[in-house]
Formats: sequence, C-alpha cells, structure tokens
Amino acid sequence: MAKPIYVLNGPNLNMLGQREPEIYGSATLQDVQRLCEARAAVFGLEVVFRQTNREGELVDWVQEARAKAAALVINPAGYGHTSVALLDALKLLSIPIVECHLSNLATREEFRRTTYVSLAAKGLVSGFGAMSYELAIEAAARLAKAQA
Ligand code: DQA
Repeated sequence: MAKPIYVLNGPNLNMLGQREPEIYGSATLQDVQRLCEARAAVFGLEVVFRQTNREGELVDWVQEARAKAAALVINPAGYGHTSVALLDALKLLSIPIVECHLSNLATREEFRRTTYVSLAAKGLVSGFGAMSYELAIEAAARLAKAQA
C-alpha cells in the first residue's frame, strides 16, 4: 500500500468559508479536503488531511509525516510567517514538501510576502483559492512518484 500525501493546515483555516471570503473564497475546509482527495485519487494516492490552531501540534504532525507520508502539502497559514520551530521540523523531512496558500502572498501585506516554510519547501502554490490545493496535490504526487 502506497503511503498517503499528508495535507496539513494551520491556524484559522477551520474558519474557511466564513473568514474574509473576498480573500480566501467561499469554499469550506471540508470542500478543500474533498478536492484534495479527488485529485490524489487520480494518482492512486490517499490523503491524510488535518487542521490545527496549535503550533506544537503542527510540528508533531510534520514529524509524523517524516515516516508515514509519501509527500507533504502544507498551508501553514499565519505560522508560515513566524515559526522557526515549524521550519526546523520541516527540515527533518526528505519527502517532497509543497507549500500551499489560498491567497496570493506576493500581492498582500509586506509581512506575508515571505515565509519560513519556503526555505524547506520544494515549491509554492499561492493565489488560486481552493485550486491551490489541487495544484499542490498534483505537484506532491508527481514528485513523490519520481522519488519512489
Ligand atoms: C494563508 C495566507 C496567510 O498569510 C494567512 O495568515 C492565512 C492563510 C493563505 O492560505 O492564503 O491564514 O496561508
């Protein structure tokens, strides 16, 4: 059985659909999960999809992904801009890491334009709303297959 793609979501993403819909869109996190599952299935892969508002829990899950995942898609949300601990955890992984954001960070406030996560990720998908996740899953699946 192939290892799944881990899709980890940081703080406030549980509020998707209600949270600044003009920036983040109307899809809920459950909608996003369904999109990820469907896109991964095209590659014959399953998804482990989680969200937390706690930095330490995100770090724990990244560590878990090290052995259990074929690839990691991560939307670190606000922690992407602040968390050295998350970067340190990501640096332990040898599986492909794809950073994912709903909004286009390059066009937003200065403090959102860079993330610590980018230092550990293979690449970044940003600005396509829920579609960012689908594109990130595709990248993660193809990178995982290439690495297998
Ligand atoms: C986000 C962008 C972050 O700057 C913000 O803190 C989020 C969501 C996005 O998906 O666009 O919570 O990661």
